[in-house]
Amino acid sequence: MSRLDPHSFADGDQPRARHLDLTLDLDFGRHLVSGEAVLHLGRPGEGALDLDTKGLSIREVRTESGVAVPFTLGEEEPILGRRLRLTLPAGTERVAIRYETSPDAVALQWLDPVQTAGGAEPFLYSQCQAIHARTLIPVQDTPAIRVTYRAALTVPESLSAVMSAGPAGDRRGPRPGTRTFLFEMPQPIPSYLFALAAGRLASRDLSPRARVWAEPEVVESAAHEFQGVPEMIRTAEELFGPYPWERYDLLVLPPSFPYGGMENPRMTFLTPTILAGDRSLVDVVAHELSHSWTGNLVTNATMEHFWLNEGATTWGERRILEALHGEEAAILAWAVGETALKLAFERFGPASPLTRLRTELSGVDPDDAFSSIPYEKGARFFALLERAAGRSRFDRFLADYIAAFRFTSITSETFLTFLREKLPGIAEDVRAEEWLTGTGMPSNAPVFSSVRLGELTDLAARFPAGARPDPSALARWTPAETLVFLQHVPRPLSHAECAELFSVFRIPAQGNHELLVEGLTIAAASDYEPAFGRIREVLLSVGRMKYLRPLFKALGAHPRTRALAREIFAAARPRYHALSRRVVESVLADYRE
Ligand code: BES
Ligand code: ZN
Repeated sequence: MSRLDPHSFADGDQPRARHLDLTLDLDFGRHLVSGEAVLHLGRPGEGALDLDTKGLSIREVRTESGVAVPFTLGEEEPILGRRLRLTLPAGTERVAIRYETSPDAVALQWLDPVQTAGGAEPFLYSQCQAIHARTLIPVQDTPAIRVTYRAALTVPESLSAVMSAGPAGDRRGPRPGTRTFLFEMPQPIPSYLFALAAGRLASRDLSPRARVWAEPEVVESAAHEFQGVPEMIRTAEELFGPYPWERYDLLVLPPSFPYGGMENPRMTFLTPTILAGDRSLVDVVAHELSHSWTGNLVTNATMEHFWLNEGATTWGERRILEALHGEEAAILAWAVGETALKLAFERFGPASPLTRLRTELSGVDPDDAFSSIPYEKGARFFALLERAAGRSRFDRFLADYIAAFRFTSITSETFLTFLREKLPGIAEDVRAEEWLTGTGMPSNAPVFSSVRLGELTDLAARFPAGARPDPSALARWTPAETLVFLQHVPRPLSHAECAELFSVFRIPAQGNHELLVEGLTIAAASDYEPAFGRIREVLLSVGRMKYLRPLFKALGAHPRTRALAREIFAAARPRYHALSRRVVESVLADYRE
């Protein structure tokens, strides 16, 4: 047997699935998905075929000719779930598995109507990255293996369905009151990029190849926010080459979505918290769009090489930002990333193995290893390579890299070998081995600075000493400048200082969630009571982990705010995604009492 991935039971000696046909029925009453997955194998199989499952009930397994396939489910393992071992008769090319998911499948969040903007219909969305596809479909759940797929999703007829695939029509469902939506994904994808959502959905075209989907109550503001996306796609194409997935559609989810964005191919999933009204948070879209090349096309072979996905993509996101909004805007984005990186080092400690780019994750849940380190340390490594090689040479390297590995899954070691071959000497010049396998931040990390950035961080540091932004200049600050400023304001502040900060930056009424949450985090850390109501509202509606972690952490500083945090979590818990719940539980467990 040969393990491909510490997070999968898939065996590299066995045949690999190459295509999947899914027929799934979404049961909103029982919160489960039932149906059939037909795996098409890359070569005829005989004997054991090991798949990943978690919480799946397997009903029946048959070959293409209808022969029953014996199967066994292994013991439940805490992170991996249960191995499903099929024993294939000789010559098996296709195997059909009838199964049902469990109501607590981590990949799925079933929302009650009250959790949606419309309030009248339920909503379902999936989130398979990192290793949750196995709670939805029995597959070889490792990014080392890619499949094309077709799917038929049956939903209540009042709802529409979308997937990380091309739409292929819809028809009356198998039962009265149902409708079946068809999808086709002709490009091979790793299992973590399976995605589906169903709800009351409307759409607006942004261009012939880009469309935004959202609940009808949200779709107009989403179309306004994302008006610049077609131009962003063209900019990305200039940097990375022709967009390889035909369409680029966006789906704005209800606010419990635990991430900012998820790069599901052809259908980026997004949090509604980026709908600021002024397009100031579309860097999240730049990020997910960049994944179309770095991540979805060239994919990390396992989660131990996650930095290849996220580091390259974060670097790419900032190149897009620079091309669209100039160098100063990119420098501010690097500064915001720097703050996230510092907090991640504080969380793990600079000597933690989780601060390596190339990690070792046997026995480690990828959701627990998740942090800004693969993003920001990884992006800095790319920026360092770019500086060492020179921009035009590095851009050519990147084009070669994408061309060489498109539709494949690679390791950090493969990356390093390719780097040494294509940019001789550079890996040694920048001490690439230390970047990949060392902990903490290497001393040759690129520095991003500008006069403006210096002014903002100085002013923020001197806020408690009485320094204040000039009111007339303030009116011209960009949201990114304000964010950098707020992030550098020392905490705790006195209540008078909090009051001033709240009025100057109109914190409680902020439409920009980055600014809102940063301001509320300062208030929480400062035990500033006038903010408690707004903190409660935000934490009761928004499930984005990036906001829950700092807010709940800041609430841990005082007895009164700890009580507030516990009270809010008790009320919010049933509405949070399972992943959000886990993050908050771990933060609350670190509270002093
Ligand atoms: N692929 C990630 C989200 C993810 C990572 C989900 C690991 C599950 C496991 C996505 O591309 C991402 O990085 N989202 C960020 C966007 C930000 C960096 C602009 C987010 O959600 O905040
Ligand atoms: Zn990403």
